[in-house]
Amino acid sequence: MCGIVGYIGENNCVPVLINGLKRLEYRGYDSAGIGILIDNHPLVIKNKGKVSELQSKIEKLKLSSPIGIGHTRWATHGEPNEINAHPHCNGDKSLFLIHNGIIENFETLKKGLQQLGYTFLSETDSEVLVHLIDSFLKRGNNLFKSVRMALTEVEGTYGIAVVYEGEPDKIVAARKGSPLVIGIGDNEHFIASDVSAIIAHTSQVVYLDDGELVEVYKDHFCAKTIADADIEKEVFEITTTLEEIDRGGYPHFMLKEIIEQPESVFNSMRGRILLEQGTAKLGGLELVADRLANSKRIIISACGTSWHAALVGEYMFEQFARIPTEVEYASEFRYRNPIVGSEDAIFFISQSGETADTLAALKEAKNRGALSLGICNVVGSTIARESQAGVYIHAGPEIGVASTKAFTSQLVVLALITLLIARKKTMSLVDGKNIALELEKIPEKIKQILKLNEHIENIAEEFKNATNFLYLGRGYNFPVALEGALKLKEISYIHAEGYPAAEMKHGPIALIDKNMPAIFIAPKDSTYDKIISNIQEVKARKGRIIAVASESDDTIDKLVDYTIKIPDTIRMLMPILSVIPLQLLAYHIAVKKGLNVDQPRNLAKSVTVE
Ligand code: AGP
Ligand code: GLU
Repeated sequence: MCGIVGYIGENNCVPVLINGLKRLEYRGYDSAGIGILIDNHPLVIKNKGKVSELQSKIEKLKLSSPIGIGHTRWATHGEPNEINAHPHCNGDKSLFLIHNGIIENFETLKKGLQQLGYTFLSETDSEVLVHLIDSFLKRGNNLFKSVRMALTEVEGTYGIAVVYEGEPDKIVAARKGSPLVIGIGDNEHFIASDVSAIIAHTSQVVYLDDGELVEVYKDHFCAKTIADADIEKEVFEITTTLEEIDRGGYPHFMLKEIIEQPESVFNSMRGRILLEQGTAKLGGLELVADRLANSKRIIISACGTSWHAALVGEYMFEQFARIPTEVEYASEFRYRNPIVGSEDAIFFISQSGETADTLAALKEAKNRGALSLGICNVVGSTIARESQAGVYIHAGPEIGVASTKAFTSQLVVLALITLLIARKKTMSLVDGKNIALELEKIPEKIKQILKLNEHIENIAEEFKNATNFLYLGRGYNFPVALEGALKLKEISYIHAEGYPAAEMKHGPIALIDKNMPAIFIAPKDSTYDKIISNIQEVKARKGRIIAVASESDDTIDKLVDYTIKIPDTIRMLMPILSVIPLQLLAYHIAVKKGLNVDQPRNLAKSVTVE
């Protein structure tokens, strides 16, 4: 999620907050704001858009304050606009708060507060927190206790900072699931979601852990657990460079986003699996779920990597929801006068939510009366807003042009939608529970695969000078073959093609010789024996072979040149795992070729033109 900065000391906090927020811009955000105390009275200034626009607003006011907090927002609940931007205030504007994360039970908490007479200005989950804290303050508790007691009622993730005019000598901060650090200065202290925001001022930091709160004064801080136990925190010296810190210590955003996938995949399913009912809870589809389940046909339209996710979705929907499903390139769909109508449900998958072809296809579908649904990452993006309903994938900002964590999060959401529909139709409770249980194991299995990073880097060393690659898979793994090929093409500029493995004999096998490596996605599933035959066809022609295989497979090693062994899972979820080695392979080959991994030539992160 996004960014937090706070300052309390003897200097003017405003430039510290603005410059700190600018250091966090790389993470991607949609709006920003600050809250300060002027003569002990709160002043909150915020806006949709860039920190520079916020800075222009503020500079005109020539503000100075010894205490303040700032926030860059990556919207999850409520589209990006000024009202939904942080900080959020309580009713009498005596208290303001900034929040990173997702409050899962915010609807329940909001209803309870509304029954107590609280009114809400924004659509965000975060605003619940400021009123909840207020409700404890109004019962005579001090700020620290009010924050602690409020957070005991919260489910979800948070990194928060709170300022209260009644106690102007402190900032209270707390962490659960969203990072927070405390910077220690000379008669001044800092708070940040990321050390890059405060490294210009101090190299002495304390990292908060989950379930911890802190009262930060200008000359000291006190830390407690949410259970009210005092804790001592170790002070660390920051030695990494600013450049390295910007990317969380990773050399490239793409690697950071590949490594983040256990967390991003978990965030995509967070609060959305109803294990006992063996189904999924997707608020954005609630009003259309029955129409979706009764649609005569599902179409999934997208571009690029999102189109590959759509292909996996086709397998899922047809196997489990038993609804005829087609996948369409958005650029083709929009121009070919498609035969669609009110009995069709059409999903538009787009990480950015701004891809011109996908947006145009969406408008075409809506004009023809089809149920038009979005699967997007960027909250409040055009495709999300133009859709009649939809699901956000909650992968967090994806900065690298080559899509990685968005792809796996798209697959998680497609699996959740499959579960939701299938359990309204013919899927049994037992089968639904099995899929739900397997989904919950995926983040841990991704962690296992990421441990193979060095092994995969060594394989990349062997193939960095290849000029062509073939990627081959069957069933659910055929779209993964396409995605692996695209990853390699777009960041290493090596030509690569993905094919259904059985298609080899219909032409591509003519390409095979010792200079044409072939990557097989060959987990032990129902097509395993067939794919082994395909491997032997390639081997017979001196092709060099890399296999992404099951860790339980102890025979394939004798057949191929390199194996990357991954955990097993059910077939419909295997693409979430089998793509990870291909992401890492493409990444390491591109790095070894000295190319610009995060911004490959000729490419943009969001293709907003035709
Ligand atoms: C994928 O790595 C590419 N960056 C590109 O194919 C991308 O998936 C495509 O442009 C679609 O983008 P969207 O998901 O934002 O609509
Ligand atoms: N869930 C909060 C919102 O949508 C915070 C998002 C963030 O972490 O920036 O406003």
